[in-house]
Amino acid sequence: MTELITGIGELTTHDPEGPDGPGPFAVVIDGDRIAWTGRAADAPAADHAVDVDGRAVLPGWVDSHTHLVFAGDRGEEFAQRVAGRPYAAGGIRTTVDATRAASDADLAARLRRHVAEAARQGTTCLETKTGYGLTVADEVRAARIAAAEVDEVTFLGAHLTPTGTTTDAYLDLVCGPMLDAVADDVRWIDVFCEDGAFDGDAAARVLAAGAARGLGGRVHGNQLGRGPGVAVAVAGGAASVDHATHLADADVDALAASDTVATLLPACDLSTGQPPPPARRLVDAGATVALASNANPGSCYTTSMALCVALAVLQCGLSVPEAVRAATLGGARALRRDDVGHLRVGARADLHVLDAPTVVHLAQRPGVPLTAAVWRAGRRVPVTPGPEEVRP
Ligand code: NIG
Repeated sequence: MTELITGIGELTTHDPEGPDGPGPFAVVIDGDRIAWTGRAADAPAADHAVDVDGRAVLPGWVDSHTHLVFAGDRGEEFAQRVAGRPYAAGGIRTTVDATRAASDADLAARLRRHVAEAARQGTTCLETKTGYGLTVADEVRAARIAAAEVDEVTFLGAHLTPTGTTTDAYLDLVCGPMLDAVADDVRWIDVFCEDGAFDGDAAARVLAAGAARGLGGRVHGNQLGRGPGVAVAVAGGAASVDHATHLADADVDALAASDTVATLLPACDLSTGQPPPPARRLVDAGATVALASNANPGSCYTTSMALCVALAVLQCGLSVPEAVRAATLGGARALRRDDVGHLRVGARADLHVLDAPTVVHLAQRPGVPLTAAVWRAGRRVPVTPGPEEVRP
């Protein structure tokens, strides 16, 4: 089955050889892959055609950082935050309690709703983490539930030390029996390296334990202040260091000289009263930058990648094409994937059609829902919620 998407006013492929110049452009999907891109007038015949009437088309968002296996609500914590109480990661324990108390079916249903919410806004590849279980059984069930619903799963047993144990004892568990129990359901291991969570030595130990089990590394680092997160991530060969808000010059230089992607979470920094992440500094230094939502019930309860793009432009000094690249190709690099984040021939057919003539509108019209249509792996994704997703 082939499908022709034609009448494209502006096409973003991230293909150095890809079509450019004046449109209209077209894309042909064959099954779940991109089969052809070029000028509409040159397009081959297909089984089915859709005319997008001058709208902009870009790759689906690659959201490489979310925490969506959770139960409970932290609206009260957020209300206190906007009234002046600073964000403290200790709120994670509130979600741990609610998540442990929830049924598997409830956790899976909540995850599905959030994944569908993200997809309606153009997210076609999504990573999510464990980290609100913090017992062997609760981390394993989070990993299994996630593995059934999303593209990429990360083990974040090292989120916080749970109540009732010591950091040393908990690290032994995370790097031993807990890791053994989750390893088959996850591709990545992550650690929250921050004052009040885990220090640099602990983070290095978690990355090494994961690597010994064949897992790629990721680090939550430099979120609330400067610290060793970036240095540990780079030294440990992590695929990404996420947050990267408070960076010393040495951190920027280390990232620029490494393969570790700086995954910036500007909606989280906005929500927690942190300064905007130093995207311009990182790009100018030559680091690879990704943008991700950090959707979670505490520090950042949004699945909107369009908001992240708008903030990266309006607050962090990126151009619109740089921000779009970071939210698509950058996310794919952070997940070490070649099949998503671009529209080169052979890519997974993940397309995002905007109700706008150009991607500039993403920053020029912040807050406006601009997703007109979405394809994921060659199939149309509903962009309005079905009745099963409307909560009482
Ligand atoms: O990425 N930094 C640690 N973890 C999450 C926060 C999760 C929460 O507050 O529940 C984050 O912001």
